[in-house]
Amino acid sequence: MADYDVIIIGAGPGGYVSAIRCAQLGLKTAVVEGRETLGGTCLNVGCIPSKALLHASHMLHEAEHNFAAMGLRGKAPSVDWPKMLEYKDAVVEQNTRGIEFLFKKNKIDWMKGWGEILGPGKVRVDEEVHSARHIVIATGSEAASLPGVEVDEERVVTSTGALSLGRIPKRLVVIGAGVIGLELGSVYARLGAEVTVVEYLDHITPGLDKGLGKALQRSMKKQGLTFILGAAVKVVEKLKTKLKLTYELKKDGSANVLEADTVLVATGRRPFLAGIAPEALGLKMTERGQIATDAQGRTSVAGIWAIGDVTEGPMLAHKAEEEGIMVAECIAGQAGHVNYDVIPGVIYTSPEVASVGQSEEALKEAGWAYKVGKFSFMANARAKTVFQGEGFVKILSDQETDRILGVHIIGPAAGELIHEACVAMEFGASAEDLARTCHAHPAFSEAVREAALDCGDGAIHA
Ligand code: NAI
Repeated sequence: MADYDVIIIGAGPGGYVSAIRCAQLGLKTAVVEGRETLGGTCLNVGCIPSKALLHASHMLHEAEHNFAAMGLRGKAPSVDWPKMLEYKDAVVEQNTRGIEFLFKKNKIDWMKGWGEILGPGKVRVDEEVHSARHIVIATGSEAASLPGVEVDEERVVTSTGALSLGRIPKRLVVIGAGVIGLELGSVYARLGAEVTVVEYLDHITPGLDKGLGKALQRSMKKQGLTFILGAAVKVVEKLKTKLKLTYELKKDGSANVLEADTVLVATGRRPFLAGIAPEALGLKMTERGQIATDAQGRTSVAGIWAIGDVTEGPMLAHKAEEEGIMVAECIAGQAGHVNYDVIPGVIYTSPEVASVGQSEEALKEAGWAYKVGKFSFMANARAKTVFQGEGFVKILSDQETDRILGVHIIGPAAGELIHEACVAMEFGASAEDLARTCHAHPAFSEAVREAALDCGDGAIHA
């Protein structure tokens, strides 16, 4: 008999959530994790610490820009950087400890160490070999490297180093205008750094509805970030007192130089496969180096499953969580399922950006006949009271059936508002269904309802 029903490798949001669901379903479960704390990249050096720094720097921005207008007088606070980092670390610790507690509560064994899959049903952790009926690979991702740019996590950093810099840089250059670049770029811009974002494409946030991307770029520019688009970074030279970054502009092939104290490399992430040895195991891989799975997370090797960043699809914690639950349910003989059409994405800048379903560009490309309903936060009373009238809600619905196909929000609490759209889409709702739902007044979410009304006869306050 095997030691365990399931051994999960990796305790990030995919792995730890899967473990809890396995335990709830009565499966004897262990998780292999080599970090000192549970929670993976997201809790330790990703989503959670970045949100703490975003919150603190947003508070500073509010104090500097909006307090006086509300009659709140006094000097704006100054930044105690070490203390801010302590606050961030404390938030991380509360969360990672929380997972430890959940593991104990659910009787999940934490095998501390780095796991190696020896074959189906066999996992080695340090010198010990453990057996299991099922193995779930949830090893996540790591920052992709960039030729000519050597990361040292002190001066040239990935998101990991950027969350623990020794001091706030005077000049920060961010390579890549994706989610990480914009979130961490905003943090340091608000804390006083001169931030330049160099992006290879001619627009920011690839994959995001272009209307949102443009609005976000405008807003970030107003906040003082500089964007250099259509630029390929060639090399970052480390001089004694500064960094010298050379990029080539695609439009004319010219070589240009930027100087900085810190360079953040945020050009995407790639699957983390240490200890997996896909070839030896006979695991089928995708062209992009991810572990190939069927729609329920089964790899090409019986008894081995894979979830999260190490597989295809958006590299998002909540996508990994959903897959973790699905796989647990399949292992327990239930019908696990993930609706990949309704996975929201959020960028925690200010204004916040959130999106679910199809972008307008994707619908156009597919030749889909659709309607657009739009509503500006400028006409939303609650948004104006908090100085966040910038932004809008855009709802795309099917021309004929009015079924909601995509919702794109830039504005206050977008990352929360989007879930109204997710629930509606999960239930196959039409824009009219949303429009006929009573929304409390005053609320940011009235803008969602108004955009839904705009898919029909028109918004009330427009
Ligand atoms: P990303 O894929 O979002 O963006 C990378 C950007 O770098 C792209 O715009 C790309 O065109 C650009 N780029 C690539 N090579 C370049 C080069 N040589 N020179 C200049 N630009 C270049 O990747 P990012 O921001 O590193 O994030 C990694 C993953 O983590 C993403 O999948 C993201 O969704 C996820 N993440 C999600 C967050 C959230 O949900 N709020 C927060 C942070 C990360």
